[in-house]
Amino acid sequence: MEQYIIKGGNPLVGDVEICGAKNAALGILAASLMTDETVVIENLPDVSDIKVLIQAMESIGVIVEHLDRHTVKINSSMINSTTVDSVYIKKIRASYYMLGALLGKYGRAEVALPGGCNIGSRPIDQHTKGFKALGADVDISHGHITTAKTGKLNGNHIYLDVVTVGATINIMMAAALAEGKTTIENAAKEPHVVDVANFLNSMGANVKGAGTDVIRIKGVEKLHGTTYSIIPDQIEAGTYMFAAAITMGDVMIKNIIPKHLESISAKLIEMGCQIEEFDESLRVVASKRLKHTQVKTLPYPGFPTDMQPQVVATLSVCDGTSIVTESIFENRFKYVDELTKMGTRIKVEGNSAIIEGVDRLTSASLSAPDLRAGAALVLAALAADGISTIDDIVYIERGYEDFPEKLKNLGAMIEIVSSDQEINKFKLKVG
Ligand code: UD1
Repeated sequence: MEQYIIKGGNPLVGDVEICGAKNAALGILAASLMTDETVVIENLPDVSDIKVLIQAMESIGVIVEHLDRHTVKINSSMINSTTVDSVYIKKIRASYYMLGALLGKYGRAEVALPGGCNIGSRPIDQHTKGFKALGADVDISHGHITTAKTGKLNGNHIYLDVVTVGATINIMMAAALAEGKTTIENAAKEPHVVDVANFLNSMGANVKGAGTDVIRIKGVEKLHGTTYSIIPDQIEAGTYMFAAAITMGDVMIKNIIPKHLESISAKLIEMGCQIEEFDESLRVVASKRLKHTQVKTLPYPGFPTDMQPQVVATLSVCDGTSIVTESIFENRFKYVDELTKMGTRIKVEGNSAIIEGVDRLTSASLSAPDLRAGAALVLAALAADGISTIDDIVYIERGYEDFPEKLKNLGAMIEIVSSDQEINKFKLKVG
């Protein structure tokens, strides 16, 4: 089994290029099947969640041609089934985007119930409420969710009880091809919601207000082909920003939209980092020991829940006592036990972690419990004394393209190893 081996202690210094946003790409790929014309998607990240969704799309007859590592050409005119039962699809949460896309285009969809990272209960009641409001029946049985229109799909007024990215995108897709007007109130405002809306509009949809909490969609009869480039990944960028901070480094994060990173930059400044913003890049410098702060995860433009483990890892070696409160997912502190192996002092009480900063972290053998927690363990290992190993890196590979290579470019000592021989070779190399 492959694992990361990391010798900590090197400040990260240099430039890193950020990929296209995974979570935007998942919505956009699914939405691309809503037209029979050819769609070209650029700046697609090369990560395993994207490969899984592409396989699922291919399993129902979508033709996907890779023009280069980050560009695909998609044709969905040969779809032969609206049932997505690929063994892979259960592994990714975003499989549910196939529901909205297929329902909108064909009036019916059946998809295996979504999986994803194990970070607490992840209901889909707001998705189903939206589909029902548009005039579809929804049935959940035998591990599958089926949604089919009874007559026509008709626009409606939908108030979401919680701010949810997934339901906002799903309803937006189905409504794009429904008859009449749909209003989604209390919609999610995340950059990837806006990106999916922009993509739909580039195919001829009429979606207005994405990025605010009221999205208005006027249904159109059909969508056409397009060429579209995905926005940069806010969470990948944020992860490298915290990697710079935890290692007391100096990193230029390139190919980003600084506005999307404001909540992350603001916290790093509070902790004592210097941030310099440019048009499409941002530099993070940590030149002195950082200090404690308080963080609460919130829907955008608040601090992202997908950055919560990375901030906890970093605060574990800052001066003073910090509190991090998770308000999106109920069970997102399970990785704290892994950090404890490195000498952190973190107590979880309800949905808050109370973090007493320690002087240094020690190396340990760790396992990645999920995607973002896995990234946080990598950051901790980069800052720790000695050599750490991290198992279950498949979770990390779901969302980070070339993670070890990019870190190595910044001066980190990290390798992927799969045998004792390779581990020994690494130890010899790093001394
Ligand atoms: C997406 C992201 C994930 C991120 C999360 C929050 C993708 C593929 N994943 O996940 O990385 O952590 O947004 O920014 O884009 N909820 C309900 N009912 C529903 C749907 C959600 O109660 O029908 C609740 C959830 O339990 C959670 C909150 O709403 O408490 C937010 O969930 P949501 O935004 O839907 O997360 P995902 O779309 O699954």
